[in-house]
Amino acid sequence: MGRKLLLDKAHIEGIRYYKTYRDNGGYAAAEKVLKNMSPDQVVEEVKKSGLRGRGGAGFPTGLKWSFLAKPEGVPRYLVCNADESEPGTFKDRYLMEFIPHLLIEGLLISSFALGANTTYIYIRGEYAWIPDILEQAISEAKEAGWLGKNIQGTGFDLEIYVQRGAGAYICGEETALIESLEGKRGNPRIKPPFPAVKGLYQCPTVVNNVETLATVVPIINIGGEEYAKYGTGKSTGTKLISACGNINKPGVYEIEMNISVEEFIYSEEYCGGIPNGKRLKACIPGGSSVPIVPANLLLKTAKGEARMMTYESLSDGGFATGTMMGSGGFIVLDEDQCVVRHTMTLARFYHHESCGQCSPCREGTGWMEKVLKKIETGKGTLEDIDLLWDIQRRIEGNTICPLGDAAAWPVAAAIRHFRDEFEWHVTHPEEAQLRSFGLAHYADPLPVPEATV
Ligand SMILES: Cc1cc2nc3c(=O)[nH]c(=O)nc-3n(C[C@H](O)[C@H](O)[C@H](O)COP(=O)(O)O)c2cc1C
Repeated sequence: MGRKLLLDKAHIEGIRYYKTYRDNGGYAAAEKVLKNMSPDQVVEEVKKSGLRGRGGAGFPTGLKWSFLAKPEGVPRYLVCNADESEPGTFKDRYLMEFIPHLLIEGLLISSFALGANTTYIYIRGEYAWIPDILEQAISEAKEAGWLGKNIQGTGFDLEIYVQRGAGAYICGEETALIESLEGKRGNPRIKPPFPAVKGLYQCPTVVNNVETLATVVPIINIGGEEYAKYGTGKSTGTKLISACGNINKPGVYEIEMNISVEEFIYSEEYCGGIPNGKRLKACIPGGSSVPIVPANLLLKTAKGEARMMTYESLSDGGFATGTMMGSGGFIVLDEDQCVVRHTMTLARFYHHESCGQCSPCREGTGWMEKVLKKIETGKGTLEDIDLLWDIQRRIEGNTICPLGDAAAWPVAAAIRHFRDEFEWHVTHPEEAQLRSFGLAHYADPLPVPEATV
């Protein structure tokens, strides 16, 4: 069994409630910090751990915290990004729903380290039932003296507020989130200035993902150096992976970042293989925005090494042969899945979610959806495939926020690795149309790239 640091107590009945959480070692890390550590020591411990942000970009958390501006007399804010709207990603939901006190304890320690007396949890609107769970945990923690004024007699004050979003993917982008939190439309801001200098209400702000902040608890419990012994290379510790698609056991798994992709997909401890003896066709390992990888490049890197569930190994080879860890939304496609249809579905999502501020994204996402629909339904031409390539190329890197890139990468990777399948839709219009309308069973018309193990 792989070692666990976040979900090790998730199976305990009643762990959602303060008493059970506390009886099982909860708030020991907060106690340690408040009694024996200075804010700088906490930041140092997080730096030593090598923790990288779990929201998608993988930026080192300790380093990010050290960028926070500290002008005299100006409040600082910590914002917990619980927007989790990336298709395929549902791991923060698990933490908040089942072990909310782990997040509250992580917020307390992190707020102390940053000198923030007000912290917001910004949660996606569709998680309608979770704010109540969080609010219950907050009031329990307050009653036990872990929140409010003069926490545990240390003179440190902290209030945590839960703010519901209205269900926009763009509000997961940190500056759009800040705008939304201020009561405005969630349009991303131009950076710089970065939130660490001018964030919420123009004050220094750190925005971190739910899992990142929860991970601070085990880091303090075992120490940054010990934490860094988990995992490999620059992928220290454990990572939550939400696995879905064509696998026997969809769910949220905590992995130590030293296992192979093959072990993750096929072992009984994790996904348990692919149903009905079907073959693996492709995978999107980090949420819908990261490039799709065909089976032949998924289990082994271009160098012939086993591909590992680490930031480095998943991106090995760049976009030509690699992909990204992203937010850990692991989507598996078996041989019965149509990559063109799948890409069209994603394009529809990004078109719908584009905030419309930047022309390449506003116009390009809709245009990609339109061309993909044409190809998928058997009405496309070979030139449309080139047109699609050209549109995605003109979006990437040309927008204020990375939503444009997130929309372009899936299309680029699908064409790069599955061009034959796009061409088949053009050269077999009638069959493509029947499949599109669900009137014919989809069986891959082309040889599935063999998974090399
Ligand atoms: C369109 C878009 C959506 C995003 N959605 C989320 C999200 O739902 N949750 C999240 O933690 N980060 C999301 N991010 C990344 C955040 O902007 C930010 O990098 C992250 O919250 C930082 O936290 P971390 O350093 O702990 O990873 C998104 C980014 C973009 C461009």
